[in-house]
Amino acid sequence: MTVPLRRPIIAGNWKMYKTILETESFFADVAPLVKDVHHCDMIIAPPFLALRRASELSSPSGIAISAQDLHWEKDGAFTGEVSASMIREAGATHTLIGHSERRQLFGETDASVNKKIRAALASRLLPIVCIGETLEEREAGRMEQVLDRQLTLGFAGLTEADFSPIIIAYEPVWAIGTGRTATPEMAQQAHAFIRSRLQGLVSRGVAQAVRILYGGSVKPDNIRGLMHQADIDGALVGGASLQPKSFADIVHYQ
Ligand code: 13P
Repeated sequence: MTVPLRRPIIAGNWKMYKTILETESFFADVAPLVKDVHHCDMIIAPPFLALRRASELSSPSGIAISAQDLHWEKDGAFTGEVSASMIREAGATHTLIGHSERRQLFGETDASVNKKIRAALASRLLPIVCIGETLEEREAGRMEQVLDRQLTLGFAGLTEADFSPIIIAYEPVWAIGTGRTATPEMAQQAHAFIRSRLQGLVSRGVAQAVRILYGGSVKPDNIRGLMHQADIDGALVGGASLQPKSFADIVHYQ
């Protein structure tokens, strides 16, 4: 059986950084640095307010735009929330779902992750679903158990066809913003586990085709080692995606 070619993805999650003006200057500066990139997909996830401007400005660079979250309802009395169709109309093609900061600070659960994945798919917004264990869970030897739960409940009831637009990001919580990256071997081990669980939960075809990104203190100087691993298909980059030069250096990992 032939193994599907998984096109690499370098994605930046800006979190709560950058105003609209700062977004404009990022895209002006990054475009010449990445304009000849053909070896990978590039995605930037700005804050909601900057989505529209980012999608207007990103075409010369070939960077796709992602939201960082969404609400699962189409519309309604949900003060402060943003729906999939609003995100689509702003020009974004992707959305992060279940980032560990949403899980830890804003009460995101595997059940809400599942509803958000369904809402994104229904609006043809490509989900980038984040999973990963905390330091406490890893040290207690529970990494696989946590990933298994997040996959089983987060993706509950989804069909094989539902998976084709889905991207997964493995982000060990202890590696986010700490400068403490998982070694390429540790990340590879977790990615291989995720793929093997997807084979059990969905199918061998999905397990082999789904792109799994690593996230957690990815920088220009550690991206190469990560990208050499068999089951790592790209990166979800926080801090180092905020500067055009370091984002472009990560994109040029080869
Ligand atoms: P850092 O790259 O800043 O560690 O953030 C990772 C992350 O959370 C991306 O979603």
